Amino acid sequence: MRQSLWLYPAVEIVHIVGIGLLFGSIAILDLRLLGFSKSIAVKRLTSHILPWAAAAFLLIVPSGLMMFIAHASDLIASPVFVLKMCLIMGAGLNAGLFYTIVFPSVGAWDSEEMRKLGPPPSARVSAAVSLAIWISVIACGRLLAYF
Ligand code: HEM
Repeated sequence: MRQSLWLYPAVEIVHIVGIGLLFGSIAILDLRLLGFSKSIAVKRLTSHILPWAAAAFLLIVPSGLMMFIAHASDLIASPVFVLKMCLIMGAGLNAGLFYTIVFPSVGAWDSEEMRKLGPPPSARVSAAVSLAIWISVIACGRLLAYF
């Protein structure tokens, strides 16, 4: 990775394509959970979006690991890298809480009669937290080049 002129940037491009796919898909779902585009059923949108979000990790994680290995000792000492990893775990925890606590009742609040009221506060909080965490992860990733 360090010896090749093109390998690191090529792997970084794969990382960025994955980030675009992950954040793009998650942001659309989060905006729906915040109450936008109420005509679209949350359950249908979720089943369309989640496979793409999962596929994005197949691009992001191997490329991130490759770049990490190339500068492991610098990165492990970087507070920004540690913060980025903690934020990713926080995003996973937030998603886990959403799917175990909020999503099981989707049939009730996403039914045709209830849909116009929008998702419950717990879903909106989860979506807002998710957006804030993923934007912070992207910021930390970019800041790695500077700190
Ligand atoms: C899961 C979501 C992730 C997001 C949203 C994300 C975001 C980013 C962003 C925005 C960059 C900057 C790209 C650029 O400026 O060219 C970056 C770079 C990087 N990421 Fe990630 N990343 C993620 C996961 C990971 C993982 C799991 C690892 C490693 C285990 C990792 C390791 C790195 C490394 C080493 C860099 C390169 C820093 C540099 O060379 O300046 N990332 N990431």
